[in-house]
Amino acid sequence: MRKTIIAGNWKMNHTGEEGAAVLQSLAARVTAKEGMEVVVAPVFPYLASAVQIAAGSSVTISAQNMHWKDTGAYTGEVSPAMLVDIGVTHVIIGHSERREYFNETDETVNLKVKAALSHKLTPIVCCGESLEQRERGEMKVWIEGQIQQAFADVAAEDMTQVVIAYEPIWAIGTGRTATHEQAQEVCAIIRHKIGTLYDPSLADGISILYGGSVKGGNIAALTQCADIDGALVGGASLQADDFMDIIDHAV
Ligand code: G3P
Repeated sequence: MRKTIIAGNWKMNHTGEEGAAVLQSLAARVTAKEGMEVVVAPVFPYLASAVQIAAGSSVTISAQNMHWKDTGAYTGEVSPAMLVDIGVTHVIIGHSERREYFNETDETVNLKVKAALSHKLTPIVCCGESLEQRERGEMKVWIEGQIQQAFADVAAEDMTQVVIAYEPIWAIGTGRTATHEQAQEVCAIIRHKIGTLYDPSLADGISILYGGSVKGGNIAALTQCADIDGALVGGASLQADDFMDIIDHAV
């Protein structure tokens, strides 16, 4: 059975104090549900204290990015080895904001995916099309290309550790959620593509999340879909009550 994952991507939000308060509340309120994982991704400076706050609770901590090398002259970067060292278990890779504003490419996404896997970090690998690509009818080819390149040279046995997030760029922070039918269609395309790259039973075991204006009111319809196994949540993960609303209504 696939895991349901509700992951909160805090992006560049919350001071240490604000984030700690939200996390303390989540750590106290999230109860262990079989087959469900709750993940929170604060900014780098607060990751170590987030790990400590979440220790012993049902919340685990993710980074929002990382470099693919372990050490070296890469000013401003953070390595997978460092994330593991402080107890981080997940890392978001290839978010569309990193692709758009920080020159993240399919090649660097692939390097980061392989580095995360070699360090036993769970990569939450993002893909998604723009509105223009969708309107031009290019969505399927684009998504399949992103998936193929993200997992180039990744061994089948490592794929069991991977999580994929489908985030249509036009639905991020816009309040415009993809309908659950639209989200399901693309998540099925992703699963099918993994099936052709590896094999269908491997694809069947991978958790695929939807991201883009997810809230308490739409999570149930999304997670009821056959190929949607949870959500990567931005805005609605910033306050404990909103995030709990999503966690409580995920199916
Ligand atoms: O990674 C989560 C994300 O990009 C969606 O953001 O604010 O639309 O939930 P939001």
